[in-house]
Amino acid sequence: MGQVHSEIIPGRVEQSNMPDYARARADFEWEDIERHFSWYETGKVNMAYEAVDRHVQEGRGTQTALLYSDALRQESYTFADLQERSNRFGNVLRKYGIGKGDRVFIFMPRQPELYFSLLGILKIGAIAGPMFEAFMETAVKDRLEDSGAVALITTPALLHRVKKEELPELRHIILVGGGSDIEPGILSYEEEMDAAAPELTPEWLGLDDGLIMHYTSGSTGKPKGVYHVQRAMIQHYYTGKVVLDLRSDDIYWCTADPGWVTGTSYGIFAPWLNGVTNVIRGGRFSPQDWYQTIEKNQVTVWYSAPTAFRMLMGAGEGSLQGVDLSSLRHVLSVGEPLNPEVVRWGEKIYHQRIHDTWWMTETGAQLICNYPSMDIKPGSMGKPLPGIEAAILDDKGQVLPPYAMGNLAIKTAWPSMMSSIWNNQAKYEEYFRIPGWYISGDSAYMDEDGYFWFQGRIDDVINSSGERIGPFEVESKLVEHPAVAEAGVIGKPDVTRGEIIKAFISLREGYEPTAALKEEIAAFVKAGLSAHAAPREIEFKDKLPKTRSGKIMRRVLKAWELHLPAGDLSTIED
Ligand code: PRX
Repeated sequence: MGQVHSEIIPGRVEQSNMPDYARARADFEWEDIERHFSWYETGKVNMAYEAVDRHVQEGRGTQTALLYSDALRQESYTFADLQERSNRFGNVLRKYGIGKGDRVFIFMPRQPELYFSLLGILKIGAIAGPMFEAFMETAVKDRLEDSGAVALITTPALLHRVKKEELPELRHIILVGGGSDIEPGILSYEEEMDAAAPELTPEWLGLDDGLIMHYTSGSTGKPKGVYHVQRAMIQHYYTGKVVLDLRSDDIYWCTADPGWVTGTSYGIFAPWLNGVTNVIRGGRFSPQDWYQTIEKNQVTVWYSAPTAFRMLMGAGEGSLQGVDLSSLRHVLSVGEPLNPEVVRWGEKIYHQRIHDTWWMTETGAQLICNYPSMDIKPGSMGKPLPGIEAAILDDKGQVLPPYAMGNLAIKTAWPSMMSSIWNNQAKYEEYFRIPGWYISGDSAYMDEDGYFWFQGRIDDVINSSGERIGPFEVESKLVEHPAVAEAGVIGKPDVTRGEIIKAFISLREGYEPTAALKEEIAAFVKAGLSAHAAPREIEFKDKLPKTRSGKIMRRVLKAWELHLPAGDLSTIED
């Protein structure tokens, strides 16, 4: 059972595109949102047209769309620039016979070319598949193979992680920044872009035609390709308006990488559908760098994650010396539980309420949020978006009363809901096992005012620094190491990262449980999968707890770790 919460930070009605939540909910029709789009009458749509070309068509071509900076580059692009670059890229893809429905993946760090190519992919009706730059060989291969990607855009530094010879469907690799001596068979982004025409007629699509795929982790099996369609734009646009509270003169910064869903839904689609200036900062996190990014660009709306806020908090008030964050007017968070402590600190230090938002790769866009005009209860994810019905269900699908903990579920369907799991219908259906509902896999409760409170994951999925990691994927990599006989992986609570990955390992005959071996095993996962999937802690055990059918009992590992009772052990091996 949950507790009663008395702490409230009052809403700011004067500063909101949605001044009255209750009213907005009562009057809500998705169709009213659809009326905003150029396709409302025709039904023929294209995300890249709505996010870019339409602004040019309607006279906003000279407005700044993208403000990019990293340690070496500092560039600014208007909507007209984005149109031209994405047209060229669309033409490059068409030249090689790529078109509607083809999967085209992107594997590169945040830099302008990532955004140009993603928009170009969408212009021709192909499906974009952005991959996080930290992925290593196995992770890259799994995604390209499962999706049947026909083309990949990447950079010289990452190219060696792509095993082209093992990917028969991957016909083209386009290299960004490769210079003049590129391997035969690989295309130069720069040469192709120069040769391509700057005009293009977009591929007109239906609302249920493909848009984007994001691979995400569950508790079993390899990462799953969560497939989203054009229709999602309705919700991207609407949440951009009422949750991000965007207005045409905003300078908006979403810190997420497009390899994760936040970096596309809210790093590309929501801001550009709303026609605002989008700040992209390349490179890694550092408090000074982030504060300077806000100050230099005069960021007004900032969307980040609890881990980042905790790290900024950890850096102390000293890190704010001499920086002016007064341009900020709206701050939001997503990805993990936002600690009340962080919300209080945001109030004190930034003079900003940090607005928590809840959603998932599968949901495609925000669903439960704190809105600028609404009171915040620190620690709560907020209330469902107008047009969305959320509830807490028991395992049989009964709606539970306030304060009862259960499955956080959303009534189907909503515009940005995933359309399928690529090549895995059975997995898709699991989410909808209770008729009429999407079962999120999170547990939560609702209070008497209709605020939702996150309690945890129901499965074993780990959330480390807001990144979702499937234990099975890590375990599978671990057992490829010659010293590892068996491995079980859990999320261990961590003050900064929310959770860290901890691996319990039993060794093969002849291997000594040394500190050096731990390091070697962690490095092995890092090199094969990715840095964020590598265990930060390893503990050697003679034996791991298993069910009689041989499944490692992560629940028991977790109980060991937390010094808790292990619960029902009736299925354990011995
Ligand atoms: O457990 C929830 C957690 O992140 C999961 C979704 O992860 P992913 O698909 O990677 O998407 C992250 C960004 C959209 C959820 O099932 N999560 C997300 N937002 C919150 C959260 N946990 C607590 N509070 C949140 N606001």
